Amino acid sequence: MAIVVAAFMWIILLFMFNTETAPEPVAVDPALSAVIAKEWPTSGKAIYEANCAGCHGAAGQGGVGPKLAANTAITGDHALVVTRILKGKAPMPAFGIENGGKLKDNEVYAVANYVLNSWGNKSEDLVTPATLAEGAGKVSPEVIRVRSRFVPEEIKLPEIFLVTFVMLLLTYGIIGLYSHWAEGAELRPGIHKVRSTPMTITAMIAAMAGVILFSVLFVREILTSIAGMNAATPVAPQVTAEGFYAAMVVLLIALVLGLYKKYFMDGEVVVEDASGEFPW
Ligand code: HEC
Repeated sequence: MAIVVAAFMWIILLFMFNTETAPEPVAVDPALSAVIAKEWPTSGKAIYEANCAGCHGAAGQGGVGPKLAANTAITGDHALVVTRILKGKAPMPAFGIENGGKLKDNEVYAVANYVLNSWGNKSEDLVTPATLAEGAGKVSPEVIRVRSRFVPEEIKLPEIFLVTFVMLLLTYGIIGLYSHWAEGAELRPGIHKVRSTPMTITAMIAAMAGVILFSVLFVREILTSIAGMNAATPVAPQVTAEGFYAAMVVLLIALVLGLYKKYFMDGEVVVEDASGEFPW
């Protein structure tokens, strides 16, 4: 079960994050981005001084409107800045032409980039319509980066189907090996008494201790992740560690069940089983 679950989770990751089926990045209009990149350092300041400084202060220190200098709420949310300028929010008027304002799109982006890069604000990326569209309604790039670590760069769909097929064969083979170990190659009808030895009891206790140990580690990791996500500066969860601990718990439970079946549970093979069609 553990191996089947792990294999299928990996295959789902392969299907979701390979280069062919992964969500398309939004097409960036290089011309518009270039215009915005060229314009904002000069025009942004003038537009700000003419339209915004009255409420937000010449140095973004605030006034009728909130302080914009060193404001992490706006540097962390580019869409908010652009939407606020385009649509306004009483008492701030709308500035977008489509909303009855006086700023053209390129001017809106120019002043947005100015605000995001002045008075202690620093924005890594240029804000353009394309970067905003990219951020909207998509899986966060950080999540994609973490998950795609487990997906080989250039794997193609046919290869993924092949991997899926091999996984199925392997899984079936592993079930066969387990059956052979637990039941023997040929089923002999009758009651089969089992006897546990000190060795098997030790193995059983060790496996159970492992289940408890990894469960504790898993819960601790999850709690750390939740705390990290709610922190002032959110920390991405350690999915590798979480996945490893969860996998160890499932594998060790499988081991406990296997040992129990083989060494602690009397088996009975009825004649029909022994002559059955199932291809052990
Ligand atoms: C009439 C005064 C006024 C003018 C003019 C004005 N704003 Fe505002 N602005 C406000 C107020 C008030 C808010 C708070 C709105 C709210 O969230 O309730 C605000 C909010 C904002 C926000 C969001 C800040 C935050 O922390 O939520 C940004 C960004 C912003 N304004 C930028 C601008 C820019 C750029 C201009 C010029 C193009 C401008 N504002 C012009 C009054 C103004």
